[in-house]
Amino acid sequence: MNKNLRRAVIAGNWKMNKNRAEAKALLAELLPMVKEADCGVIVCVPFTDLETALEATRGTSVAVGAQNCHWEKSGAFTGEISAQMLAEMGIQYVIIGHSERRQYFGETDETVGRRVRAALDAGLQVILCVGETLSQREQGITGEVVGLQTKVALQGVSAEELQKIIIAYEPVWAIGTGRTATSAQANEVNHLIREVVAGLYSKADADALTIQYGGSMNAKNAAELLGQEDVDGGLIGGASLKAPDFTAIVNAASGK
Ligand code: 13P
Repeated sequence: MNKNLRRAVIAGNWKMNKNRAEAKALLAELLPMVKEADCGVIVCVPFTDLETALEATRGTSVAVGAQNCHWEKSGAFTGEISAQMLAEMGIQYVIIGHSERRQYFGETDETVGRRVRAALDAGLQVILCVGETLSQREQGITGEVVGLQTKVALQGVSAEELQKIIIAYEPVWAIGTGRTATSAQANEVNHLIREVVAGLYSKADADALTIQYGGSMNAKNAAELLGQEDVDGGLIGGASLKAPDFTAIVNAASGK
């Protein structure tokens, strides 16, 4: 079993939810509940909640992440936020390449790769999302799609920098649909990603990499998914907006 070589990490992706007051209230409820967590816990909040989340989590073991960053340090990029800006605030993590960014905002494997590079250069840790659509799964090209997304995003990333990366496998068809991948499907693709990473780096580097599953993970199915050899955590959407549900997932990852 190589599972114990890597750290389990549960990250909440709040997406475009919670204003400042709501963020404060959710964190006030959540933080005492996850105090004893025996895994990494991250909350990835909207840009407008970053300061609130940093203040609320100060002195706790819960880390704060953003949901995107631009690849340039500064400049004429209306509406974008740079990795440097996040790092200077004290943000530790950033989600990059989420399927909603790819689907609605024109992100490509290439721009995802540029954002990963910028995040690492700024000293941020990255949650890199990959995943196939339903039609790609039905065509039987899940492995090719996810493998390519992984390879392009990691182009130019050194083995040392890889330690700052978490990969989240999020099948697009399972996101927000209530349709979860079976634990066997999740484990199969996570394993495949690990093999791609082993090919790019080494088996030891791949064995040390945290690979999450995301897509309708909830309080009920978390233990089964997280019990899989290659599933090292979760990237949680809907269930991260409710403190008891998110806590149940954190507890499942902590073996409680
Ligand atoms: P849901 O948990 O709501 O399906 O969202 C998953 C996700 O996209 C996390 O990034």
